[in-house]
Amino acid sequence: MSGGRRIHLAAFLNAGVQGTAGWRHPDASDAFLTAGHYAHIARVLERGLFDLAFVPDALSVPRSLGGTFDPAVRWGSGTPRLDPVPVITIMAAATTRLGVAATVSTGYHEPYNLAREFATIDHLSGGRAGWNVVTSFQDAEAQNFGQRSLPPRTERYARAEEFLEVVTRLWDSWGDDTILADRTSGVFGTPESVESLDHRGEHFAVQGPLSVPRPPQGYPVVIQAGASESGRDFAARWADVIFCSHESLDSAVAFASDIRDRADAHDRDPSQLKILPAATPVVGRDAKDALAKHDAFADLVSVEAGLSRLAYHVNVDLTAYDVDGPLPPLEEVGVEGHYREVVEFAEREGLTIGEIGRWYGARTEGSMIGSASDIVDTMEQWVDAGAADGFMVQATHVPGAFEDVVDQVVPELQRRGLFRTEYEGDTLRENLGLRRPERGEWRHRRAKDRA
Ligand SMILES: Cc1cc2nc3c(=O)[nH]c(=O)nc-3n(C[C@H](O)[C@H](O)[C@H](O)COP(=O)(O)O)c2cc1C
Repeated sequence: MSGGRRIHLAAFLNAGVQGTAGWRHPDASDAFLTAGHYAHIARVLERGLFDLAFVPDALSVPRSLGGTFDPAVRWGSGTPRLDPVPVITIMAAATTRLGVAATVSTGYHEPYNLAREFATIDHLSGGRAGWNVVTSFQDAEAQNFGQRSLPPRTERYARAEEFLEVVTRLWDSWGDDTILADRTSGVFGTPESVESLDHRGEHFAVQGPLSVPRPPQGYPVVIQAGASESGRDFAARWADVIFCSHESLDSAVAFASDIRDRADAHDRDPSQLKILPAATPVVGRDAKDALAKHDAFADLVSVEAGLSRLAYHVNVDLTAYDVDGPLPPLEEVGVEGHYREVVEFAEREGLTIGEIGRWYGARTEGSMIGSASDIVDTMEQWVDAGAADGFMVQATHVPGAFEDVVDQVVPELQRRGLFRTEYEGDTLRENLGLRRPERGEWRHRRAKDRA
């Protein structure tokens, strides 16, 4: 297997229902509020040698169409949502090699809690933890934390920048060899290797050190999915893994090359940054069978559910616009990456807002509807074009859609030498081919103007 063409697989798993209609699928599990559901999916993914399972999050019941939370509850679009952090600890406990990553916002947490939580999961899982850093995108989230609306993007990223600096310094506050636990001498550890931070910044004042020793991975794997200018720059400096979603191979190639250039400009080795575009495979016996499966799924999605999902992602109430007209340009959208994708697709196909809603609700990113062999052809094409180091696999429904990938797509990837036949290492970093950060690496990752 040539290292350069090795594909990484992450699974995108909501801690609740999947997408807008995943819960309506006849084969969908309805146990999404139970530990057993997540433990089972983790075992399925580990059987398929996935690098990691990733759990997204938002800190609100989405208020989208008409400014109410009605669509979210009526159609299950974006709710319910369990806290992803305990969910990933359940998944880690059910497995021994699968990486587990949870989304936590820098807007509504404190660096000390976050550093402690993820260092703990990294220890408990033997180095398999990842953190998806988000700056939040919903006014409804801000309103749960004493704010009327989401702060502007530049402010959110300024806070995120300082947040990452403090978190990584906290992870570095213990040396790798601080604990001696020498029973004979009675010396537990070497205090001279533990450092305080004494950080006094614009957003945070943190004395340190952390109460948890340096994580097994040095830093748990840092994931990011920002697509704006600030988001890309931040990701190119801090992220080990970047998630994105694209409507065409061309835009995916342009995005990946922009990110790699930015990483290079910050003296980072671009190979140490793994780009995983979203893909929603619908696997059939052949293309016709897969298309029939897709269409049956799309029939479960209502236009309103799709529109409410889009309104939630872009943080704009779309009820002000005519559903039979085109989508007008939107200012200061929530998730820039999703908005760009919608604009590209809607312009190309000449869609009205209503048609966008139907498509967005059943959206199966990455054009991966076909036989396992068709799907692997597309994956190979994206990797060879430099658009991807692997894929963030989304499921139309769970656990069935993940089982289809594990039982049909993974063997085809392996047959072509594109995917591992066993885990390479014990930690998530080792499996992703990422080196372990030295103590003090935070200095090289922060923005030059903060140096
Ligand atoms: C594929 C993908 C997945 C995302 N997952 C989440 C998520 O779970 N929670 C969240 O708050 N934001 C999520 N986002 C949003 C971004 O991480 C980011 O915080 C937001 O888009 C604002 O940054 P930007 O303007 O730079 O894109 C996701 C974005 C993409 C493209």
